[in-house]
Amino acid sequence: MHIPSWPQADESEADLLRAVLESPQWGGFHPFVAEFEQSFAAYQHAAYGISAFNGTVTLELALDVLGITDGDEVIVPAISFISTATAVSRSGATPVFVDLRENTFNLDPIRVREAITSRTKAVMAVHFGGTMCDIEALEAVCREHNLYLIEDAAHAHGSEWNGKRAGSFGIAGSFSFQNGKVLCSGEGGMLVSSDDKFAEAARSVANCGRVKGQSFYEHVRLGTNFRLTAFQAAILLAQFERLPGQIERRTANVRLLKKLLSSVEEVIWQEQPAAVTANSWYLLVGRLTKGNRDKFTAALAAAGVPCTPFYPHTLYRNLLYSEGGCRVMECPVAEARVRDSFWLPHRVFLGDDPTTEAVGEVLRKALSCSVSIAVSTASLW
Ligand SMILES: Cc1ncc(COP(=O)(O)O)c(C=O)c1O
Repeated sequence: MHIPSWPQADESEADLLRAVLESPQWGGFHPFVAEFEQSFAAYQHAAYGISAFNGTVTLELALDVLGITDGDEVIVPAISFISTATAVSRSGATPVFVDLRENTFNLDPIRVREAITSRTKAVMAVHFGGTMCDIEALEAVCREHNLYLIEDAAHAHGSEWNGKRAGSFGIAGSFSFQNGKVLCSGEGGMLVSSDDKFAEAARSVANCGRVKGQSFYEHVRLGTNFRLTAFQAAILLAQFERLPGQIERRTANVRLLKKLLSSVEEVIWQEQPAAVTANSWYLLVGRLTKGNRDKFTAALAAAGVPCTPFYPHTLYRNLLYSEGGCRVMECPVAEARVRDSFWLPHRVFLGDDPTTEAVGEVLRKALSCSVSIAVSTASLW
């Protein structure tokens, strides 16, 4: 079993990096940065791309440009990486943690509707693991209540809902190019948007308050410097060439793995609605209906299959939010998922068919081992 390593690079990265190194511009004004912004935004079906040095500041940038601040509330899922929530807190607004829809690992639009108050300004939707959330239902809720829809699409490069790509539904979509992401440059991020005014303001804030057409030392608004370097853009241009092929490979391997395990009843995989027409497969997420999740993931790791036993807790259980600073709706689904769920990273699905078949065998053995251990432990009591 040969599970590929990540990140991957070859001479194409080296050539582009060398081109930057030999140029007089190593920073964000090298043409590679604009080239990558345009290509990636178009790929995600958006008109504009504003790159930044990671996918946390891009979320903060979106909230800043939308004027979200003290006294406002922003709805976020109870399960995500911490940046989804801290971006809201750092804007001065209050994150409101909302539950997931059963088996989707994504925000439940019904629960979102229940959480809306007169202070709500936006919904931050995450496409967990690359599987799109019910973005059309969330769009409808936002339209009805006059809220901004922001997509935290950090996992969803190339993912689609009815043929339309992640990041192109909300006023803005935020991507991460951090080391483990399916498109990566160690660190990096991008906001995509098709809203002229939003995009112009976001670019200006991220570039020290400058505006197009004015001199370098004219600053028209309170900005900062979030610019991506040319070295990151060089790596991203090379990685981007491989992304469609890698998505195809992962899609085929996930399909094969699920087929091989179709008789296994102890795992429920993250639901794939018919509207999900493409998936980055950043993570293959599942939950155990039987057996001990920690024993299962430990058995996988011992057999050489990388696996994470989910986040240790819901976002609002971080020490950061233990004394308030947030509003928490009832989240029974999210609480259950941190106990029974797991994910396999995308590199597991970048190998050949025999590797996927071997992964399937390891999964099957780890499952029976986790169930038998759970039964024997229970019988001791
Ligand atoms: C859902 C989500 N949002 C935001 C981020 C933040 O991205 P970055 O690490 O590039 O700051 C991540 C990173 O893992 C993430 O998973």
